[in-house]
Amino acid sequence: MAISDFATVKFENGALYFLDQTLLPNEERYVEMQTVEDVYDAIKRLVVRGAPAIGVGAAYGMWLAARNYAVENGLLGGAAVSAALSPEQVEAWLEAFRRDGAYLKSSRPTAVNLEWAVERMDGRMIAMKAMADEVAAGKFGVLQINADYILNELMQEADNIRVEDENSCYMMGMFGLTLLEPGMGLLTHCNAGALATAGYGTALAPIHMGQERGYDFHVYADETRPLLQGARLTAWELSRNGVDVTLICDNMASTVMKQGKIDAVLVGCDRMAANGDGANKIGTSGVAILAKEYGIPFYMFVPTSTIDMSIKSGNDIVIEERDPEEISEMWYARRMAPEGIRSFNPAFDVTDHKYITAIVTERGIALPPFDESLSALMDV
Ligand code: MRU
Repeated sequence: MAISDFATVKFENGALYFLDQTLLPNEERYVEMQTVEDVYDAIKRLVVRGAPAIGVGAAYGMWLAARNYAVENGLLGGAAVSAALSPEQVEAWLEAFRRDGAYLKSSRPTAVNLEWAVERMDGRMIAMKAMADEVAAGKFGVLQINADYILNELMQEADNIRVEDENSCYMMGMFGLTLLEPGMGLLTHCNAGALATAGYGTALAPIHMGQERGYDFHVYADETRPLLQGARLTAWELSRNGVDVTLICDNMASTVMKQGKIDAVLVGCDRMAANGDGANKIGTSGVAILAKEYGIPFYMFVPTSTIDMSIKSGNDIVIEERDPEEISEMWYARRMAPEGIRSFNPAFDVTDHKYITAIVTERGIALPPFDESLSALMDV
């Protein structure tokens, strides 16, 4: 099955690799990450992208940060057993870890999975510090805590984040399929697929899973200007899995809807507020407004790791602005706008909850009013 023959993020023989998504669809190349700076750069340049995949990549990036600290500070024993660490040594390590975490979190502002994953790793490191204190006070049932133990704990947390994401994609796929019928025409925007997660994807999960079950969907993929995630990534992963996919320019969505080709719109999300407003790739909100006009259901696929209950509405979501040259030069053989022209390049927009028919999470499907259904779901 096509989805299992690539991984966006993989950890093999002690090394972290990302499938370089800036090279797709022309080249499939894995790049090795050796430092937290490499991971920062990969997230910023969209080598690894899509909210859940950014979270998974960042979790392993934090392990790299911890491993490099241990090496640089002589905390690992090499062939011998690593020496016991004092609470002061673990405290210093925790401080460095937190500095690296703050740095990594600053690589991109909108997808909440980035800070969520770094904070999960931070939680595990804090537990290590508490354990070091207990060991030193003679209160714990082990005699020592060493660097191998800590790195092992951090690796377990990163693995948990990856496996949870894989499972949550599967569950969103199953819930998503309950909203769809065989033979439907579906529209999607950006890439919320396997390339954006550790599993089947979020919005593309029911499409991949429907493909395995003979649903025979007809998918229209918005090309997604300016970075072309729809053309380069969604078209790549869907066609590779045998899905019937047709690429359209973003400004053709209204036409295919009007022609009756679209029965449902499926999109992902980078950060959802407590009231159901959801930030996703620029252009998503326009698609939602069109869908409402044509009476087409608009489904947002949102793992709970993407729901930020600390913000009330989409007004509080920070929207990343990217290099204007992505609009005027990137992908073109020659510049396609006059030299010196000003351009504005917000990477995301917020879809108001009133345009969302249902929010699909790994815990179930939330229906309006979302402030009530999301808080019930998040309390589970
Ligand atoms: O800038 P990107 O490519 O990281 O943006 C990705 C999206 O907007 C996705 O739709 C979103 O992260 C959900 S991915 C499951």
